[in-house]
Order: sequence, then C-alpha cells, then structure tokens
Amino acid sequence: MSQPRLIAPSILSADFTQLGREVQDVVSQGADWIHVDIMDGQFVPNITMGPMVVEWLHRMQTAPLDCHLMIVSPEVYIPAFIEAGAASISFHAEATPHIHRTLQLIRQGRVKAGLALNPSTPLDVLEYVLDDLDFVLIMTVNPGFGGQTFIPATVAKVRKLREWLDRTGHADVLIEVDGGINPDTGALMSEAGANIFVAGSAVFGAPDRGAKIRDIRSMVLEHQTMFPS
Ligand code: DX5
Ligand code: ZN
Repeated sequence: MSQPRLIAPSILSADFTQLGREVQDVVSQGADWIHVDIMDGQFVPNITMGPMVVEWLHRMQTAPLDCHLMIVSPEVYIPAFIEAGAASISFHAEATPHIHRTLQLIRQGRVKAGLALNPSTPLDVLEYVLDDLDFVLIMTVNPGFGGQTFIPATVAKVRKLREWLDRTGHADVLIEVDGGINPDTGALMSEAGANIFVAGSAVFGAPDRGAKIRDIRSMVLEHQTMFPS
C-alpha cells in the first residue's frame, strides 16, 4: 500500500514583514501544506503567533494550514485554532495530562488530530490513543527554534513507530517529521516510513525555493519504503 509523502514548509523561517506573499510563494512552488509553529514562551523558550495569524492565512485560501501547538494547556486554545481555519492541529504529549480528551476535541471540530512527541519522549504514550489519531508528529530536533541540527536517533524511532502502526491495523495514521529536514534527512525519514516532511530553513533559506521543494520531494519519493512490507 502506498502512503502519501507531503512537503510542509514551516513559516517560522519566512520573512514576517511579508508573510502572505511568502506563503503564496512556496505554495505556488509546490508546497502541499503550510506548517504553522505556535509557541507560548512556557512550553518552549520562544514566542511566535496565535489564532489571529492562522485566520488571516486561512482567508488567503492557499494550502491546508498545519498548526503545531508548542504550548501548555493546548485544550484551552484549540477551539480558537479550529475556528480560525486550521486543517490539522498537533499538540505535545508533554504539555497536557488530557491527551485523549484533547484529541477528541480536535476531531469534534472536523480537524485532523495529531500528537507531537519531543525527541526523548517514548512511543508508549501513543498506545491507548491509536484509534484517536490522524497523525503523529515526531520532533527531530528539540522544539523551540528553526535551523537546528537533525537528531539521528529519531530515525529508529520513526521506523519503530511505522512498524507498530502497520502491525496494529493503524497503517492510515501518518507520521510527520519536524526539525532539520532537508533532502538528505528527508530521504532517511522516508525510508523509515515518515509521510509529512516539515522544512523551515531548508525551504525559506534556499535561493530557489521551488528547486528545494522539488529536491526534497524527489529524494523522499526515491527512498520511500512501501509499508506494510
Ligand atoms: C521547531 C519547529 C519547526 C521548525 C523547523 O520547534 O517545530 O517546525 O520550524 O525548522 P527547521 O526546518 O529549520 O529545522
Ligand atoms: Zn513545527
């Protein structure tokens, strides 16, 4: 069975003085989703943006907005992100004791629900919510900043997760990887079974963004493993 391979540039590395144009630019050059990093200065040591920015981007009708919440008590703000037009929302397992309830809250809003895991967080936390997930976001750097170096230990984590999902009848749950993704690390992760490739600095920092998106896509497709094998 063939699973999708999607490229999601992260606007964290975009020029915020012209955010709308930046989003249009990468979408016209092949981006599948737009990844929006929401940081609160508590869960991570950085502050970015909130639902208002998502709402403005949604009005532009460019590509699905993939909202990655790096905030404490995500359940408090999720209704506002649903209202703003998010297509998918992920929150961190480390940020709330109410993972099951929060996944339900997202799905009740007819939005794709994802659980994000820091590099050191074990996969076990997913065990009893596999039926409640549309995707899992595996952090491949520590959350908080763009432009960090990919953590190699996360390749084995993604492979283990893909095998587990397929073995337990959850092959339709997608795996998103986020942090330090470029054509080479994208290839490694595609081979391990990842489906959604977030790339911030690699895309927005490239002199030719379209060429970079195509490069990531061709490496990811060339190295993809068909699961279940
Ligand atoms: C980090 C964010 C990432 C970040 C990725 O906390 O979740 O989405 O923008 O940036 P790069 O691709 O530059 O590592
Ligand atoms: Zn992110």
